[in-house]
Amino acid sequence: MTTYSTISPAFDVYAIRQAFPILGRMVKNKPLVYLDNAATSQKPLSVINALNDYYTGYNANIHRGIHTLAEEATAAYEASRYAVKQFINAAATEEIIFTRGTTEGINLVAYTWGRQNVHAGDEIIISGMEHHSNIVPWQILCNEKHAVLKVIPVTENGELSLKAYQELLTDKTKLVAIVQVSNALGTVNPVKEMIAAAHQAGALVLVDGAQSAVHLDIDVQDLDCDFFAFSGHKVYGPTGVGVLYGKRAILEDMPVFQGGGEMIKEVTFEHTTYNELPYKYEAGTPNIADTIALKAALDFINTTGKAEIRKHEVGLLAYATEQLENIPGLTIIGKAREKASLVSFVIKGTHPQDIGILLDNQGIAVRTGHHCCQPLMKRFDIPGTVRASFALYNTMEEVDKLITGLHKTIKMLS
Ligand code: ALA
Repeated sequence: MTTYSTISPAFDVYAIRQAFPILGRMVKNKPLVYLDNAATSQKPLSVINALNDYYTGYNANIHRGIHTLAEEATAAYEASRYAVKQFINAAATEEIIFTRGTTEGINLVAYTWGRQNVHAGDEIIISGMEHHSNIVPWQILCNEKHAVLKVIPVTENGELSLKAYQELLTDKTKLVAIVQVSNALGTVNPVKEMIAAAHQAGALVLVDGAQSAVHLDIDVQDLDCDFFAFSGHKVYGPTGVGVLYGKRAILEDMPVFQGGGEMIKEVTFEHTTYNELPYKYEAGTPNIADTIALKAALDFINTTGKAEIRKHEVGLLAYATEQLENIPGLTIIGKAREKASLVSFVIKGTHPQDIGILLDNQGIAVRTGHHCCQPLMKRFDIPGTVRASFALYNTMEEVDKLITGLHKTIKMLS
């Protein structure tokens, strides 16, 4: 058996766990084993404290007041924007738009850039492993504009067919919208290469970073993507806040999204002029508290070190994969050469939901179902999978508990 050592002096998973209060709780009289991190990650105390500090210390609306609390809140909110810029290496804070999450970021692009630039007969390319949030907005747009939605096929091992992708790209392609890490398979897609190919064809690229931002180093300038969207709650931050990155020149040219306060420069009953970037896309009072706390989450990741986190998570995935493959009747769905921190599987003669319920009875949280990827499930001819997804605080012992739990579960179901 391979030994997977992930304990390095710089990375002490047991010390890290202490920062996450929820990991100490019991579920069904068993210590919680939380393996549903791809759905949402748990939050460190620093994030919880940031929320508490804002509400108890300087709750105020931003960009509007001249009083002390308003200035403090505005400074903290804008500090978060700067932290995001650094986190994904954007060229400027003007390129960072706060949203409700990845879904809203993608919809923003579809409703603004899409409606301005996609016309009858144009083509948009997505992939066969997209989350519904990176399918439906483009479907709506294509239906409205009489444009064509094309899909990059997924191979049997859960990778994108790059040959097919090249063939799909034409001079009619306006946009490629692709996921960097599949939430259902764990596949890491070669987005940098795919972006270069799209640009050669004259198309823009939106990268869905909902699953990648927490696991991989993100450098939007190096990727050269035109848009990049991710969610706060999957990077150890709060729910209800997300980020849309867009290249400045493209954002400048796009029409506005929602109308309201903050996004305007001047309003008369006849005419409105719009605010500069990024405020042009942030109408109304934003989610101030959660945006401020997002910085605490990014600080937490930076302090821990992405390289160390990745090493630990790669170890967890490799160990889990090896152990799962030894379970009779279990098939892993998604065997890409490069995967991030999750593994999806089915077990012969069982339904994923039954497995999920019986694991929960043992305190083990996994996600079961189609993972908002119904077309992908159809591709593999399965109703859904059981998905175990790992975070920086998971341990090898927890992987062992999953394996023992699965053996018990299979016995109960047979
Ligand atoms: N998209 C999230 C998941 O994969 C919710 O679980």
